[in-house]
Amino acid sequence: MTQDELKTLVGRAALKYVPLGQVVGVGTGSTVNKFIEALATIKDQIPGAVSSSEASTERLRAIGIRVFDANEVEDLAVYVDGADEIDGQGCMVKGGGAALTREKIVAAQSRRFVCIADESKRVQVLGKFPLPVEVIPMATQRIVRQFAALGGTARVRLQDGKPLVTDNGQHILDVTGLAIRDPLAFETEVNQWPGVLTVGVFAQQKAAVCLLGTSGGVQALN
Ligand code: 5RP
Repeated sequence: MTQDELKTLVGRAALKYVPLGQVVGVGTGSTVNKFIEALATIKDQIPGAVSSSEASTERLRAIGIRVFDANEVEDLAVYVDGADEIDGQGCMVKGGGAALTREKIVAAQSRRFVCIADESKRVQVLGKFPLPVEVIPMATQRIVRQFAALGGTARVRLQDGKPLVTDNGQHILDVTGLAIRDPLAFETEVNQWPGVLTVGVFAQQKAAVCLLGTSGGVQALN
């Protein structure tokens, strides 16, 4: 199976975790786009979604799913999103699509995080995928130096030759050279650095379930 087919497989499998009659939290990325396609088949049975990005909002609306502002909904039963890396404990690196801050907000408001990913995302130790960090631009160089002190190399993510601007009007650093052996401690520390809006380690909001697309089918890891 191709990577795209594996994404379709897990996108469809996630439907089983969506309680009918309730608003669903929707993440961002190419795997989630498959989930949104699958969601279209039950769109008349859910009131709508809370979305983690402008891109997902646009897709949801295009297929006729109402998108609620996060402030309109107190809590969500489930949040479905992809990951750039996931370890054996459900901790993840996310933000490859630059939506990490809103993803963490919607994940925090959800009772259950269902991660959908193809098997290439499964790792022993987080950190091989460049770690996305959303930063307030005036703090960029200070944060670059703080990562250097940890042995990491941080680079500003570019789009068309200029710093990419997130849905929140901020910039993204991608950090290589890290091996994140204690994701919870790492997330807690980096989140406290002045100017860091969100670090792309999801340990406080880790996955309760991971639906992993493999050539043998969907594996559900709890
Ligand atoms: C976006 C994300 C995505 O969930 C992550 O990058 C995985 O994306 P894809 O499903 O396209 O591989 O965190 O900010």
